Amino acid sequence: MPASVVIGGQWGDEGKGRIVDLLARGARVVARYSAGNNAGHTVINDRGTFALRLVPAGIFYDDKDCVIGNGCAINPIALWEEIEGLKARGVSAERLHISDRAHVVMPWHPLIDAADERLRGPFAIGTTGRGIGPAFVDKAGRAGIRMCDLIDGAGFRERLRIILEYKNAVLEKLYGLEPLSFDAVYNEYREAGERLLPYVTDTSLLVQEALDRGDEVLLEGAQGALLDLDFGTYEFVTSSVPSSTAAGAAVGVGIGPNRINRVAGVYKAYTTRVGNGPMPTELFDEEGERLRNVGREYGTVTGRPRRCGWFDAVAARFTARLNGVTSAVVTRLDVLDAFPVIRVCTAYQVDGAELRSFPANTTVLARCTPVYEDFPGWETPTSDVRRFADLPANAQAYLRRLGELLGAPVDIISVGPERDQCIQVRPVV
Ligand code: GDP
Ligand code: IMO
Ligand code: MG
Repeated sequence: MPASVVIGGQWGDEGKGRIVDLLARGARVVARYSAGNNAGHTVINDRGTFALRLVPAGIFYDDKDCVIGNGCAINPIALWEEIEGLKARGVSAERLHISDRAHVVMPWHPLIDAADERLRGPFAIGTTGRGIGPAFVDKAGRAGIRMCDLIDGAGFRERLRIILEYKNAVLEKLYGLEPLSFDAVYNEYREAGERLLPYVTDTSLLVQEALDRGDEVLLEGAQGALLDLDFGTYEFVTSSVPSSTAAGAAVGVGIGPNRINRVAGVYKAYTTRVGNGPMPTELFDEEGERLRNVGREYGTVTGRPRRCGWFDAVAARFTARLNGVTSAVVTRLDVLDAFPVIRVCTAYQVDGAELRSFPANTTVLARCTPVYEDFPGWETPTSDVRRFADLPANAQAYLRRLGELLGAPVDIISVGPERDQCIQVRPVV
């Protein structure tokens, strides 16, 4: 059985967690393949309301294996808190598996994250401050500690000694910060390693064996393609290696790329972004404020207000193409219920010319102004609709146009945050 990937097609927070919780019903394994606890995936189902950070959104089903893949960066303290928080609410982590090759977010990573942001001054990225960027820098720089090291008693002590000496020199000499105590770091992390030990395994083998048995595997992306290191709005991106796009999923769980054949691209019915960097359709007027208020657009991880704007079809078509999206999923249609006019950006105006492709150069993107196509709103609640044909005609027309612009069929429409608040037009998994 081939695997399916769920990716974010914008700047993150599209509702991937909510969609994975829905699609997981048909899967046997659900695996996160990138990023760390900079991600925040909200799930609302019969078990309650949850904000997942590292644990895959399949955890609410008792019969699914959930994997945190080798492509993730794991803060073991935060992960343990997440597991305990779930257990306290009756959600078992018994079927959670953590890759032995995943990198560990160490105490110096958030310190360096914060110090780098301070040094960037007005050019700060607006990171989540969780140290994920510096952890991936160390991964690529061959100065990382992996889960297999963390659980390796004497091996961890030795590896930490070498790396901490180097990191303390960096903290003190480069950043003017206090050095970290070896004993404090060692004791805290050794204990965290011991707690997580029963979950750590070769998850690549687990996923491959599931595929060989004919089981459905669902790969849960984090962030969004516009935050991707290669294709996003560099340098206002996240540092996840592998990529947050669908292509990163094979590397991030350790399977061949030919095992993946379906890509669900999740898009909000409008656009949001947290952190800095250009966003051509951002609204600074009362309409943007209204989107934020109606949609309660505040970050899951940091609580920061999300920047809001109309659907950017130039950006969305670009990400549908580079992810090979086979099914588009449009979330938060209900947020647009009250708007008399809904706008979609179909091209950019820049330096006196019209641009229909997404530029690589962030300073060019910052100068782009949107060319809009206007749609009459439907001004009717949609949250209780469960069939496409029952949507107001104007909502149907809007969704059809989004599908055309994306170049992919809109197979799921989410009309509310709860598991069943959706319209499934065509099976995705
Ligand atoms: P993720 O990071 O892509 O998983 O998305 P987040 O969980 O960070 O943010 C998505 C937010 O939208 C969450 O608060 C969800 O509960 C909410 N949400 C998801 N789908 C819908 C929808 O169709 N309608 C509404 N009103 N909220 C939704
Ligand atoms: P989910 O998976 C939205 C953004 C941050 C910042 C930039 C870099 O919930 O969709 P980082 O801490 O990763 O170095 O920050 O990326 N960012 C996200 N924005 N959703 C996310 O994840 C994000 N993960 C990172 O706001 O602009
Ligand atoms: Mg999120």
